[in-house]
Amino acid sequence: MTFTEEYRREDEAAHPPHFSEAYASTALRSPRQPLVRLPHTLTEASGPAQGGGRLLGPAMADLTRQHRGEPVGQRIVVAGRVLDEDGRPVPDTLIEIWQANAAGRYIHARDQWNAPIDPNFTGMGRVVTDEAGRYGFTSVRPGAYPWGNHHNAWRPAHIHLSLLGPAFATRLVTQMYFDGDPLIALDPIAQAVPAGARDRLVARFDLSLTEPSHALGYAFDIVLRGRAATPMEP
Ligand SMILES: [Fe+2]
Repeated sequence: MTFTEEYRREDEAAHPPHFSEAYASTALRSPRQPLVRLPHTLTEASGPAQGGGRLLGPAMADLTRQHRGEPVGQRIVVAGRVLDEDGRPVPDTLIEIWQANAAGRYIHARDQWNAPIDPNFTGMGRVVTDEAGRYGFTSVRPGAYPWGNHHNAWRPAHIHLSLLGPAFATRLVTQMYFDGDPLIALDPIAQAVPAGARDRLVARFDLSLTEPSHALGYAFDIVLRGRAATPMEP
């Protein structure tokens, strides 16, 4: 059997460059040679069925209920839709979520800065979009954390997102920020995103998503391609 179908390639101008001088570690990570474009074969054009649900286990849509107690921090609900370039909903998209706790610390061996670990917060979740492309999860607002990029460098509060559609070639990775965070303007990672597209990475406070006496709501739609595409990490 010959497999000929390919997924359309990204429009690279809409996304952060591989190398961005102010984002120091891209100097080591970025390719030195022009990229070689390999054809998509069955390996890239296939993937886990049903948004990865069977392979990866059940949804984990509430990051505040994964332990015996509740995590410390401001509870938030993040919700939106995954859309294609024509505004049509994209169902069965697996969205994996990872984030720091309210103090800005990850559960990770490499994260050893002086902020407390929360025994009631792992910071990982997983949801799948429904037939209308909708997703939503509950968490706590992540704290800012320092990093070694330059003197007194702090990452803005952010949530990492990985999206996986019907094939491994469709995986996209991005970060979501919060409206009004003054650190966004100082962050070389956010600033590496082309200026006209940077706002698409910022979740907006939304009273209609806010749950009374429980959690603040934030709206965040993800557009996979086209003029309104959400910027993704190369
Ligand atoms: Fe992070």
